[in-house]
Amino acid sequence: MNILVLGGGGREHAISWALAKSPRCTELYVAPGNGGTANIARNVKDLNAEDAQAVLAFAQAHNIELVVIGPEAPLVAGVADVLREAGIPVFGPDAQGAQLEGSKTYSKRFMDANGIPTARYQSFTDAASARAYCEELGAPLVVKADGLAAGKGVIVATELEQAEEAVRECFGGAFGDAGNTVVIEEMLVGPECSLLAFTDGKTVRPMATSQDHKRALEGDLGPNTGGMGVYSPVPIVTDEEHATMVKVMEQTVAELAAEGIDYRGCLYGGFMLTPAGPKVLEFNARFGDPETQVVLPRLKNDLVEVMLACANCELDQIELDWRDEWAVAVVLTSSGYPGSYEKGKVITGIEDAEAMENVTVYHAGTAVVDGQLVTNGGRVLAVTALGDTFENARNLAYEACEKIDFEGKTLRHDIGLRALRGRDAWDA
Ligand code: AMP
Ligand code: GLY
Repeated sequence: MNILVLGGGGREHAISWALAKSPRCTELYVAPGNGGTANIARNVKDLNAEDAQAVLAFAQAHNIELVVIGPEAPLVAGVADVLREAGIPVFGPDAQGAQLEGSKTYSKRFMDANGIPTARYQSFTDAASARAYCEELGAPLVVKADGLAAGKGVIVATELEQAEEAVRECFGGAFGDAGNTVVIEEMLVGPECSLLAFTDGKTVRPMATSQDHKRALEGDLGPNTGGMGVYSPVPIVTDEEHATMVKVMEQTVAELAAEGIDYRGCLYGGFMLTPAGPKVLEFNARFGDPETQVVLPRLKNDLVEVMLACANCELDQIELDWRDEWAVAVVLTSSGYPGSYEKGKVITGIEDAEAMENVTVYHAGTAVVDGQLVTNGGRVLAVTALGDTFENARNLAYEACEKIDFEGKTLRHDIGLRALRGRDAWDA
């Protein structure tokens, strides 16, 4: 069958890579795609993934039998609604379901209404009331732009002044319209853990756990980014914590269904493993990036079958099967990210890295210009390695990173280091 993937980041390269392996996949299109998807699929650069009518027209013209929506923006824009209405199977929730990610206020209200554990919060549309609540809560606290901000609209403030500055920035337009409403919440502490789940709106099949590293700098310092590195599974999660997270995911899908929301796709639960148990930091309406780059390489199932089962409400027919190996991915970024950075730097050494057994290099911000592979974004590549132990996977990923070069190449050298030292040493 012909399949269309929307998006052009590392997540979409990893999804496309897994779909392309399936014997059921005939022609694979990625819109817009990147320098990596160009090797395994047809990039459709001029299709605007957020334009539902254009996506529908493309799908109909190319006999597409499954559309996989990677990023949040087309989901929030209602692309899934239009395709589903036209009878095309879609992996990705409708606009209403995507609000769980598209509005933090909606998401927090949903959690409160359903008794899902999360940080205490309030939501504001004016700076004076927001500042008053900051003073009431006291530092440390977290300031979040309500809408979509590419992972950058969250400021963890250790001092009250920092929180007030963040409130000023949000209302001052630093995150565009996404900051017209601001959510302020208490700071939670503990290790983070992502649990992604496939769902068809009724059945929930949790994937393997993973852990992103959101901060730009080593030691979890610096500003939040889209994600600097990740591993799967997360060795420090207890069985009890895992059971709680799975319960939250199942409960969330059940409550969505009870509200009449038909959620088919990937539900992403971002958890903080606090001393009082796992609490939800956020829900996303899609796969994580870079979580996908370590989760999907460990999935043994045919991804086309799993995604079709979600789209067609037949997920109860499928059990997931995981490889025993550990996966670690290190993200190579352009110097300056998540602030401003240069593009167009020539990338070398990917073939050498991929010649290493158990190494795959997923492209994020890359493009082919005049026959040369060049940087085209802040997060450039995710270098994933599989290993029979966590340590081996980690060492292999870093060895592979050394083979790759481009001007301004930047990476965190401590991906997975805290987990390697164990839970007891986590806060030490
Ligand atoms: P979000 O987009 O809401 O997941 O926030 C992005 C990141 O900010 C999370 O992955 C955490 O690292 C951090 N964060 C968000 N909310 C909190 C919180 N209440 N306490 C501590 N850290 C948080
Ligand atoms: N890695 C975080 C996210 O995809 O939101």
